[in-house]
Amino acid sequence: MELKHFIDTQDFSKEELLDLIKLIRMIKRADKQGATPKLLEGANLAMIFEEPSTRTRISFEVGMEELGGHALYLKPGEIHLGVRESLGDTAQVISRYVDVIMARTLKHETITELARYATVPVINGLTDYNHPTQVVCDVLTMMEHAPAGKKLEDYNVTFVGDATNVLSSLMFICTKLGMHFTHAAPKKYQAPEAWLNIARENCKVSGGTVRVTEDPVEAVKDADFIYTDLWWWVGQEAEIPERRAAFMPKYQVNMDLIKKAPAHVKFMHCLPASRGVEATDEVMDSAHSIIFDQAENRLHTEKGLLVWLVYPRLKKASTEQKIVHAGQIEDFLTSHF
Ligand code: CP
Repeated sequence: MELKHFIDTQDFSKEELLDLIKLIRMIKRADKQGATPKLLEGANLAMIFEEPSTRTRISFEVGMEELGGHALYLKPGEIHLGVRESLGDTAQVISRYVDVIMARTLKHETITELARYATVPVINGLTDYNHPTQVVCDVLTMMEHAPAGKKLEDYNVTFVGDATNVLSSLMFICTKLGMHFTHAAPKKYQAPEAWLNIARENCKVSGGTVRVTEDPVEAVKDADFIYTDLWWWVGQEAEIPERRAAFMPKYQVNMDLIKKAPAHVKFMHCLPASRGVEATDEVMDSAHSIIFDQAENRLHTEKGLLVWLVYPRLKKASTEQKIVHAGQIEDFLTSHF
């Protein structure tokens, strides 16, 4: 059985990603009727976190439980992760206990190193480079809120704000799927050339487009979706005055900017948000906002992803095998204890 990790959406074809989203939608439909199949009964998920999390932590844990499996939360500092033991050894050991590993790591190299040595699937729960589970969820959410009849390949997605790990992943998946992606930010905070080159290569295959601009008003002119993310993160506290000055007020998603977009535009944010900074309350709580549908979809996405990666690998003993083994063990226990 081929070992598949989920580290970067770039590792998958458009067809594979769309198949994954189809599976997620089936599982979501089942969930809405209280009929989620227990496809991962007896399976275990190790969740490794080097940073705090609300959505990723809860959606993976609840998702695994709802599928009949079990999740272990390994909080920051809980296990040896490159300290007192190599990452390779840790990955190989954990693989002997669980069926799948999800990790949120500070450095992208940490997750790639875990995946290099793990013998079970490794899922990227966010690194300093990308956030692939978030953006699969985002595409699902866009499909649910796009104008009726509009093809995925015709979606216009505008990201206004800093070139974060969510921006990179969103740009990659949108261009891979053939959408039209715009990044609006001050020059200093625009997507780097290396990321743009990946997106441009995607566009050559998919027919999508990618562009970067300093003009947020022009960027949202045809947008079906306006997306933003935090302007600064943990560790960037010293840069806050400079970043605030660069982004505010021109790049804040407020009602003035929303009004420059088509009337049907939807507002998205991966959350957590700094309300009143990158987006106003008025926008976040408006009819344009789909942020809580987006957050809910993390749960359905994690379930689909776990089933996709783990279900084909599970050992499925026959009833006969189960009876034989239980009988042998019971006979041993009866005769020895
Ligand atoms: N969007 C996201 O990953 O949220 P958390 O940091 O709460 O997991």
